[in-house]
Amino acid sequence: MNALLDLFLVVKNVLLAFFVSWVQFFIPETPKCVRGEIVLITGAGSGVGQGIAVEFASLGAVTVLWDINEKRLQETAKLISDVGGQCFTYICDVSDRRQVKQTGDAVKSEVGDVTILVNNAGVVYGKKLLELKDEQIERTFGVNLLAHIWTTKQFLPSMLENNHGHIVNIGSSCGLVGVSHLVDYSASKFGVTGFTQTLNYEIHFSGHDGVFTTLVSPSHIRTDMFSGCEMAYPALLPTLELKPTVDRIMQAILTNEHEVYIPRMVCVMAALKQMLPVSVMYEIMQFFQADRFMESFTGRQEEPVACQQGK
Ligand SMILES: NC(=O)c1ccc[n+]([C@@H]2O[C@H](COP(=O)([O-])OP(=O)(O)OC[C@H]3O[C@@H](n4cnc5c(N)ncnc54)[C@H](O)[C@@H]3O)[C@@H](O)[C@H]2O)c1
Repeated sequence: MNALLDLFLVVKNVLLAFFVSWVQFFIPETPKCVRGEIVLITGAGSGVGQGIAVEFASLGAVTVLWDINEKRLQETAKLISDVGGQCFTYICDVSDRRQVKQTGDAVKSEVGDVTILVNNAGVVYGKKLLELKDEQIERTFGVNLLAHIWTTKQFLPSMLENNHGHIVNIGSSCGLVGVSHLVDYSASKFGVTGFTQTLNYEIHFSGHDGVFTTLVSPSHIRTDMFSGCEMAYPALLPTLELKPTVDRIMQAILTNEHEVYIPRMVCVMAALKQMLPVSVMYEIMQFFQADRFMESFTGRQEEPVACQQGK
């Protein structure tokens, strides 16, 4: 009898959740106000991180910029001052959990509790598994995945305490469908997908309805990270320009979207991968020349090295 009642309640709640989702699809949520929020962005020195930092600053948020590269950090700080925004810069190698702890404590005492955390820093080597040095594989996981976990452990407690906060993880389409020459990168980004989805469940089931997570899964964006690479069929899967990509990410954050695929075609590819036989996926991947995407990769010319922690 109890089981029947439980089943009835589940069906009722599922139908209600579907209905709410459909309504939200047609009538998107009003963007939340972030004036005065303390927003920490890792890898804020260039590309996506820089774009997000400038957008938050221009909306009146207090931005906290972390990067391993001081020169790039200063460039972002200059852009933020140009739009009349406020920022605090910290040099931090996010793959080093001791630096994350020390720098995180410094932010708490010098700026305050972080209320929006954007885990964005990333690295890519663009080599096949057997060409990668072990240290490079460790670095990929350290920066692209473990760093997200260290920063979340640092800043989530105050968000939960105040039932107010948002954790944004920049994943990748490679975290949904793997790409050749990106075996370490894809594996780390699959980790980001799993980490974010599970963290969301943990927060939801702990009853903290004011703390949100957003997983961002973009395909190829025109930044220095994947320089040299071009998509085979831009009409179907274009290389994304930075500004519209940042705008879409901001829209997702401001409306508390759980997952955002840029472009939507990424979602279709991910769904197909789950449903189709591997032999069919080989054909689809070959059509998109996914096996050759990294052939022209030049990437960033310098190796991101660990440097001394400090402000
Ligand atoms: N560019 C793309 O095509 C693409 C596609 C999908 C997802 N992404 C993801 O978007 C995010 C941003 O990428 P981007 O294209 O702006 O790259 P980018 O190389 O322009 O910026 C990355 C920033 O991270 C910083 N960084 C690297 N290692 C660090 C470390 N250990 N500690 C602190 N900072 C560190 C770099 O100095 C740099 O400023 C990454 O997570 C990336 O994986 C990029």
